[in-house]
Amino acid sequence: MILLNQMNKVPTILVIFGISGDLAKRYLLPAIEAIGEAKMLPEKFKIVGITRQKNSEFFQMDLSTKEEYERLNDHLMEIEKEFGEPAQRLFYLSIPPEACKSVIEFIGRSSLAKNNPNKKILLEKPFGTNLQNARDLATHIEQYFSPTEVYRVDHYMAKETAQNIIIFREGNSLFKKTWNKDFIESIEVIASEEIGVEGRTNFYEQTGALRDIVQSHLLQLVALTLMELPENIEEVPVLREKALNKLNIICNINENECVKRAQYEGYRAEVGNMNSKVETFVSINLQSNDPKWRGVPITLTTGKALHSRFTEIRIRYRKDKQMESNELILRLQPDAGIEFSIWTKVPGYEHRLSSHHLSFKFKDHYNILPDAYEQVLFNAINSDHRLFTSGGEVIETWRILDEVQKTWEKSDEDLAIYKKGSKVEEILHLK
Ligand code: BG6
Repeated sequence: MILLNQMNKVPTILVIFGISGDLAKRYLLPAIEAIGEAKMLPEKFKIVGITRQKNSEFFQMDLSTKEEYERLNDHLMEIEKEFGEPAQRLFYLSIPPEACKSVIEFIGRSSLAKNNPNKKILLEKPFGTNLQNARDLATHIEQYFSPTEVYRVDHYMAKETAQNIIIFREGNSLFKKTWNKDFIESIEVIASEEIGVEGRTNFYEQTGALRDIVQSHLLQLVALTLMELPENIEEVPVLREKALNKLNIICNINENECVKRAQYEGYRAEVGNMNSKVETFVSINLQSNDPKWRGVPITLTTGKALHSRFTEIRIRYRKDKQMESNELILRLQPDAGIEFSIWTKVPGYEHRLSSHHLSFKFKDHYNILPDAYEQVLFNAINSDHRLFTSGGEVIETWRILDEVQKTWEKSDEDLAIYKKGSKVEEILHLK
């Protein structure tokens, strides 16, 4: 647990590599501002923004020159002098994935980090592009930073509903006791986006929906849903990893039995590659070999340029004899909250049943709902690893998807094309 007076005492320098990029502008800087307004930043706190662009108010440096990192170190030492004491140094890499490996090495080898026990590195997904290079990247990072100094950001885990999954399962005995294959028929995680690739054409051409959303956000949500409940909060990353370790694709990828991919109409022209086979929609079926979950179908689905924006975990309960099944929805967005369907008798003389929703929305009860990036930064500043993905989890997620990636690479089959604004079910029915 973080004590407030303890927390405010840790002098901190947050070094953001890529300060003029989209992530910093849209998420990181507003998040810092909000934490500051809530008076939750350390008393001694400074941001150093790094950019390659000349003529900027930020610290301008060439990321590929060793000496530049020493110059940055001098700058940080000046700040520490002003603080009157050494600070913890957080290095946030908000730069293209292909640049990360060398920047990690430059930081790690320089006086910025060498022999400094007070350093942390924050990394954005994707952590690799396949099982093999994810392993290589993990080994590379380990050379310069110990596991407790590495913070792999998955902002979905910091969304309020995601943070509530364990609490919800633990704190409500009705659900705690029925959270297994005997009661639960299926689990579905859907992240549906209305937006397309929005100018991130290079990034998306190298990534696609499977790597962009399934490998990270959706598999982490499944892990939170399936994992054993922790005895204490520090165990959470290990238990998530164990849950991921039991997940597999067990049907025929070639036959499209359990993996469906598609692309929205107009995507190829948008990215300027008329042969692109990058998927903007994907749906995959998994199974867990955990005896507690064996046989329960787990479906992960995501897509861009769809009919509406929502992210939900749908837990369908089994039908008991004649009675209908219930559905529990853990909704991440919009209107984060929890919904549960129940059956009631329709008032009147006839014996008819009807389904209704019990609905809880955080916003109806709380004025403040911190954004996911506020929680990411707050937790990293305060050395709380709960919301971050461990190296082991990352490897497991790539392992689960490895066969899909290999099959797609070899396949000459074209993708199904869907109209912008389609619903998930419509795409699933496409040939
Ligand atoms: C990012 C993906 O991780 O998450 C984007 O790279 C996606 O492609 C975004 O649009 C969605 O995040 P959110 O918080 O808007 O659901």
